[in-house]
Amino acid sequence: MKFFVDTADIAAISELNDLGIVDGVTTNPSLIKKSGRDILEVTKEIAALVDGPVSAEVVATDASAMIAEGRKLAAIADNIAIKLPLTWDGLKACKTLSSEGHMINVTLCFSANQALLAAKAGATFISPFIGRLDDINLDGMELIADIREIYDNYGFETQILAASIRTVNHVSDAAKIGADVMTAPPEVIKKLAQHPLTDAGLAQFLKDAESAGIKIV
Ligand code: G3P
Repeated sequence: MKFFVDTADIAAISELNDLGIVDGVTTNPSLIKKSGRDILEVTKEIAALVDGPVSAEVVATDASAMIAEGRKLAAIADNIAIKLPLTWDGLKACKTLSSEGHMINVTLCFSANQALLAAKAGATFISPFIGRLDDINLDGMELIADIREIYDNYGFETQILAASIRTVNHVSDAAKIGADVMTAPPEVIKKLAQHPLTDAGLAQFLKDAESAGIKIV
């Protein structure tokens, strides 16, 4: 499973990137707003920092304007994935921009049929939003499983990018289903390392090491 970081916070991306676990970055207009930075500047900086795809989202809503914005975002760096909303116009823009050879991340996906359309329009990634479905008492993970089944049935190469991940269980559940990629905020990625038994076990080992006078260097 590839790990993308869902943030436009350069310091947070750098910390995880230094660990070698970052396969890409996803941003959206809300995350750009949170960063307080100019979209073109911060996206350029992120794209230079990480090797993998960096998703940058358009803000236009009609296909021709989305295409113009997508081309401008793609010109920032070779590893930009143009993020387009799953609307009819977004699908038209996806078809055009993917035919030009750009990576496309189709976002705001909430149904299996939307995912099917995105794959047929040439999307590189489809981003089903798990947390936002859970928020309205639907099952986000069920959507990941449905898309996996449909894509496998027909051999679609579009990668399932599990998004709107809020908990560590979302990560392992999406991995069990076979999502190709997950994108999560840095805080969630760091929490993946935590376990109370690890903390308790380490505390005991350190106590014993101290009382036994164990010294290594
Ligand atoms: O990048 C899109 C997505 O991951 C948003 O997550 O938590 O705002 O629903 P969230």
